[in-house]
Amino acid sequence: MRLLAFLCCAVALGTARGSSAQEVAGSASQRCFCQVTGYLDDCTCDVETIDVFNNYKLFPKLQKLLERDYFRYYKVNLKKTCPFWEDISHCGIKDCVVKPCQTNEVPDGIKSAAYKYSEEGNSFPGELEECEKAERLGAVDESLSEETQQAFLQWANHDDSADNFCEADDEQSPDAEYVDLLLNPERYTGYKGPDAWKIWNTIYEENCFKPQTIKRPLNPLTSSRGDNEDNTFYSWLEGLCVEKRAFYRLISGLHASINIHLSARYLLQDTWLEQKWGYNVSEFQMRFDAVLTNEEGSRRLRNLYFLYLIELRALSKVLPFFERPGFQLFTGDKDQDKQNKKLLLEILQDAKSFPLHFDENSLFAGNKKDADKLKEEFRLHFRNISRIMDCVGCFKCRLWGKLQTQGLGTALKILFSEKQLDNLPERGPTYGFQLTRQEIVEFLNAFGRISTSVKELENFRSLLQTIE
Ligand SMILES: Cc1cc2nc3c(=O)[nH]c(=O)nc-3n(C[C@H](O)[C@H](O)[C@H](O)COP(=O)(O)OP(=O)(O)OC[C@H]3O[C@@H](n4cnc5c(N)ncnc54)[C@H](O)[C@@H]3O)c2cc1C
Ligand SMILES: *[C@@H]1O[C@H](CO)[C@@H](O)[C@H](O)[C@H]1NC(C)=O
Ligand SMILES: *[C@@H]1O[C@H](CO)[C@@H](O)[C@H](O)[C@H]1NC(C)=O
Repeated sequence: MRLLAFLCCAVALGTARGSSAQEVAGSASQRCFCQVTGYLDDCTCDVETIDVFNNYKLFPKLQKLLERDYFRYYKVNLKKTCPFWEDISHCGIKDCVVKPCQTNEVPDGIKSAAYKYSEEGNSFPGELEECEKAERLGAVDESLSEETQQAFLQWANHDDSADNFCEADDEQSPDAEYVDLLLNPERYTGYKGPDAWKIWNTIYEENCFKPQTIKRPLNPLTSSRGDNEDNTFYSWLEGLCVEKRAFYRLISGLHASINIHLSARYLLQDTWLEQKWGYNVSEFQMRFDAVLTNEEGSRRLRNLYFLYLIELRALSKVLPFFERPGFQLFTGDKDQDKQNKKLLLEILQDAKSFPLHFDENSLFAGNKKDADKLKEEFRLHFRNISRIMDCVGCFKCRLWGKLQTQGLGTALKILFSEKQLDNLPERGPTYGFQLTRQEIVEFLNAFGRISTSVKELENFRSLLQTIE
């Protein structure tokens, strides 16, 4: 099969981007995957190497890690109001429901974990004015020790820092609740149509770096499904510098990942007796088949691999932070904590051993002034996308949308904190680089989603071969 794909792709690559749908016609499997092979743009990595590395090495370990208490309980505020327009709620769809945890389900250690970190002396000293301090303290549980309150202040300060790519979710809000991610899996919800398009549209239209003159007709109501990204759009994309192109591809990769998940865990049967979830191959084909999508599908899948590489790179970069002897994945259960840290470090070391990394030095590599400006622009656009997630009307989709954008934001923060990470002292304060428990949970779970998507592609490939 690999040989077949290779031959087919030699043809596809030979005709480069201009190749027409006819040329990729062939078996169902080839039509989804033929162009998803070989080297990725802006990177020296190839898809096959990623598949083997992910599916057989990283994915199984990551699955195991994400089942642990530390990673499965995610504190999130799903009740924030949409800052851009009036909320359109889909609470009515039963598969959109998110069941929050009862307070007694979540281990105490996790509930106090935010404070635990700061006691380790990980946080970085801030410079808050006295009155501001007093004001913020008012919001903190008064049973905390003086020392902990101090540390908490430093955290609050840290969370507003200019290094964050996302608007930090207000974990301390009374509306924030713990959600058991294992009990609320990302899958088909039935959230679709104009409201879902509006979100994707806003993300692409208003938040992608794009000259105003180019309209991207994304609304499937006004054109045929999925095949309207015309050549103007792509020649625009090719003309962009590598950073802006990267931004678009990350978003598109995330979009592809979400749509793979809903095709892999589709609601196949819905009776009063039971609900059955599983692969819907035709749903997958409608979204990713080269012919049905006028080759858009292959581009989207390649963007998924691109996103994978960016997050993988961040995993490998952040290793020194987690390697610090004082660092704990604190849940209150000492044995469990030790095991978790060991498994996490193994995963990060695997990530580091991956030979074909994306070179983020080519991002923001221009002169210092331009680079800083671009990085800031990047950050503001990305922040905006994290805020748009509060406009997603389906709570289940909002949960995973939030988690994944926040996780990607953390990946970017890591990639652009290279200097701090290289000079991280073994003990004591980390001078500017910090990750909260929430960021850690989001980052690893977000990567877990992308890693699962890559794995699911293998499953779809086999399923498609059986229907030929
Ligand atoms: C944040 C968020 C989270 C979601 N989570 C879920 C979920 O968990 N479960 C669920 O069932 N549904 C979820 N949805 C809905 C789902 O993503 C689709 O919007 C829905 O299934 C309708 O799909 P569609 O085929 O109409 O096209 P959409 O996926 O809505 O896409 C709209 C248009 O964008 C373009 N497009 C599609 N994919 C890409 C891509 N990868 N890159 C670039 N452009 C693209 C196409 O032109 C397409 O017509 C979520 C939506 C959002 C906004
Ligand atoms: C699979 O998806 C297609 C396309 O969305 C849909 O028409 C079909 O009913 C789905 N199949 C099942 C078994 O639900
Ligand atoms: C943020 O999003 C809003 C709503 O889509 C838009 O009006 C605003 O221009 C965006 N800002 C940036 C920096 O992208």
